[in-house]
Amino acid sequence: MKKTLIGAGLALSVLFSPFQQAFAESKGEVRKVDNVAHRGASGYAPENTIAAFDKAVEMKADYIEIDVQRSKDGKLVIIHDTTVDRTTNGTGNVRDLTYKQLENLDAGSWRGEQFSGEKIPTFGQILDRYRGKIGILIELKSPELYPGIEESVVQELKKRNLDKPKNKKIILQSFNFESMKKTNQLLPNVPIGVLTSSNTDTTPQALKDFAEYADYFNPSYSIVTEDLVKNVHGLGMKISSWTVRSHEAAEFLLQMKVDAIITDYPDYVDPRK
Ligand code: G3P
Ligand code: CA
Repeated sequence: MKKTLIGAGLALSVLFSPFQQAFAESKGEVRKVDNVAHRGASGYAPENTIAAFDKAVEMKADYIEIDVQRSKDGKLVIIHDTTVDRTTNGTGNVRDLTYKQLENLDAGSWRGEQFSGEKIPTFGQILDRYRGKIGILIELKSPELYPGIEESVVQELKKRNLDKPKNKKIILQSFNFESMKKTNQLLPNVPIGVLTSSNTDTTPQALKDFAEYADYFNPSYSIVTEDLVKNVHGLGMKISSWTVRSHEAAEFLLQMKVDAIITDYPDYVDPRK
């Protein structure tokens, strides 16, 4: 088991917020669920923009989830797709555009005129604006397209002392397991998550392998079962599941007793309802 887990668990257990809903279970113990705003409160504002992240803070989510990629000239930027086509007024691959080109795009109008002028944020801007205000779940999106992006991410975190054990509300995750293994070596004190929607990653051996370097196993809710949650917990990892876009999905994950729910709608995750 990864040795930072025990410390992380202890630190997280004392960090309560309105959305880390505490509720009594049958045996009398108290459990919390972290509420993670997926690409910000993206049900209410354009994903991965300041408007969506501010909305998540306003809604008292515990974390924002962000997707990190890299511009042609090496700037780390926050955008989900590997092209700008769907969420901006531009076209092309993120990696083929300079930061100046990305900065000039409108990343809000596609969700309504009231959001026009929203920009693609940089990773640094997000860290500076939200550190200490809300947790940040950082996804390295398609890191195989950006050789060395792990080192660049680490550099930005270190610059701000966010690589230290006290910062338990910074978590890194990716669908790229090799990238997360490498990141764990570079940042041994920052929690690491692996993302998957594949049942082939839920076998006992696969989970054991993940537990060597990961603190979180983060599956699509389509593959979550009670047994999976038990197996992940049995290996000392936590489980955060995605992407909640309905009340039914939120209710299902609360019943499965996952540790965190990643949702476009932070208000859907309330076990008291
Ligand atoms: O945080 C989990 C989720 O973000 C993974 O899927 O495609 O929304 O990045 P995706
Ligand atoms: Ca993501």
